[in-house]
Amino acid sequence: MTAGGHVTLVGAGPGAADLLTYRAWRAVARADVVVHDRLVPVEVLDDLGEHVEVVDVGKAPGRHKVPQDGINALLVRHARAGRRVVRLKGGDPFVFGRGGEEYAACVAAGVAVDVVPGVSSALAVPALAGVPVTHRGTTTAFHVVTAHTRAGEQELDDVAAGCVTQRAATLVILMGVSALPAIVTRLLDAGASPDTPVAIVERGSTPDQRVTRVGLDLAAKRADELGVRAPAVIVIGDVAAHGLLEGTSDRGDVGDPRG
Ligand SMILES: C[S@@+](CC[C@H](N)C(=O)[O-])C[C@H]1O[C@@H](n2cnc3c(N)ncnc32)[C@H](O)[C@@H]1O
Repeated sequence: MTAGGHVTLVGAGPGAADLLTYRAWRAVARADVVVHDRLVPVEVLDDLGEHVEVVDVGKAPGRHKVPQDGINALLVRHARAGRRVVRLKGGDPFVFGRGGEEYAACVAAGVAVDVVPGVSSALAVPALAGVPVTHRGTTTAFHVVTAHTRAGEQELDDVAAGCVTQRAATLVILMGVSALPAIVTRLLDAGASPDTPVAIVERGSTPDQRVTRVGLDLAAKRADELGVRAPAVIVIGDVAAHGLLEGTSDRGDVGDPRG
């Protein structure tokens, strides 16, 4: 192991600074170097000492600022120089965050590495919009998928589709905005009910959070009309019904700022 230096992969939560955990704040406060993504609350870096180096390796959609290999090499290089490196990542580092690759790169290089779990958008963003991913008497399971893979956007696999068609589990989709038309077609073709509730939550936990609730058959059309943009979490299933927790469940179809 490298004397002194180490890397901590830190989950920064979905966007609001007060959704960083206490452990995450402490790790950031002790860092010599912070290497951060785009979707992190950068205000948590405001009070760092002048000696702290802050590196933005954030990736805007379709634009890769620093390739993953470059990020891995950067973490290893700083740690080998004896620095305390915080790798600040959106949500949880191990949920579609390539945290596993960064962890493995450190291990392979003999660099000490640990993890501070984060509040994942997969659960927190629906919750902030009042959508429980499980709800007694409605759904007892949930399934989290990405619509974006190494091969590009994908349609849903049979397990994900079965969650919806069999009303077996809530389906939570990350990175799904541009794939939404294909997702809707796939689910309807597989036999999903056209009025299956869908909630699309954009920019969760930020002042610009917007929640759109719509039936499955109209979801892609409505998202297009409203100009729905990433980052967004898409929830499909009965828990997404408008009014579920108020006891007035119906099929809503409204772009509703702040939910
Ligand atoms: C590369 S994945 C990273 C997920 C992250 N590791 C996590 O646990 O939340 C990025 C995707 O997470 C979702 N996401 C992250 N932050 C979000 C937010 N504040 N509001 C809505 N969706 C968000 C979106 O689906 C976005 O495209």
